[in-house]
Amino acid sequence: MSANLGIHSDAGLGHLYERGKIDVSHGQILYLEDVQVSFDGFKALRGLSLTIEDNELRCIIGPNGAGKTTMMDVVTGKTRPDAGTVFLGQTMDLTRMDEAAIAQAGVGRKFQKPTVFENHTVWQNLDLARATDKRWFKSLRARPSAQAIGAIEATLERTALTDVVQRPAGELSHGQKQRLEIGMLLMQEPRLLLLDEPAAGISDDETMQLAELLNSLRGSCSMLVVEHDMAFVAALAGESGRVTVLAEGSVLAEGTLAQVQSDERVIESYLGR
Ligand SMILES: Nc1ncnc2c1ncn2[C@@H]1O[C@H](COP(=O)(O)OP(=O)(O)OP(=O)(O)O)[C@@H](O)[C@H]1O
Ligand SMILES: [Mg+2]
Repeated sequence: MSANLGIHSDAGLGHLYERGKIDVSHGQILYLEDVQVSFDGFKALRGLSLTIEDNELRCIIGPNGAGKTTMMDVVTGKTRPDAGTVFLGQTMDLTRMDEAAIAQAGVGRKFQKPTVFENHTVWQNLDLARATDKRWFKSLRARPSAQAIGAIEATLERTALTDVVQRPAGELSHGQKQRLEIGMLLMQEPRLLLLDEPAAGISDDETMQLAELLNSLRGSCSMLVVEHDMAFVAALAGESGRVTVLAEGSVLAEGTLAQVQSDERVIESYLGR
């Protein structure tokens, strides 16, 4: 059992960064410029520059090894860039913050594999994720407030998990687990959600249900979605959403899905002929 809830027994510098204090006065929630990451001389990110608007849902596509996951590692503080600028809003330099502080500032991350508490019910998982005092293991015994109950119920509805609320998370389908994990992240009221291949390994129906869920979150947080499933990307990007293509550690192309799909370099390096 593991959980990436942004819950930390020691919040590190987290207390310095109050939630909801991200300065988006210039319209951007995330700003990367000329980011470099090397692993033993291999350049996983080479001059990556990327700007995400506040409340934008941005899809990122690109071949295996392009550096998509590494980019998320940099944003969440898991990997320190060798060089470059990474800012959350106007004022938070993410290269100077640790993982706990970045999570505390409102950045939530979903890894490919669902990380839920298998032996706990759906309700308990959401309740645990909500826990604001760091002694989260005690919160199962504490009675949640009416406000907390309301937040859990709203999340259940949003993630279409109301019918399975009393089931242990271990009994859920892969798609339901993915939605539960997103629900757990939502309990933390993130400002920016990073999702790494959330549709991998789930059925077509559940993929579309997941797209519906993410689309319903528009306006409540910004999202960065890495995905290979082009039907899923199309459902998220629509006709006008921006799609970024990463290749060999930097941005190869950016535009609407139709624009990047007809870009010769993108066809060459990723989509194939
Ligand atoms: N910790 C590490 N040590 C050494 N090399 C690494 C490490 N993490 C990533 N790499 C390398 O950096 C490159 C980029 O990897 P990354 O996982 O970011 O790609 P990706 O775009 O997420 O690919 P995929 O679509 O397969 O998930 C790859 O060549 C990978 O082998
Ligand atoms: Mg990856």
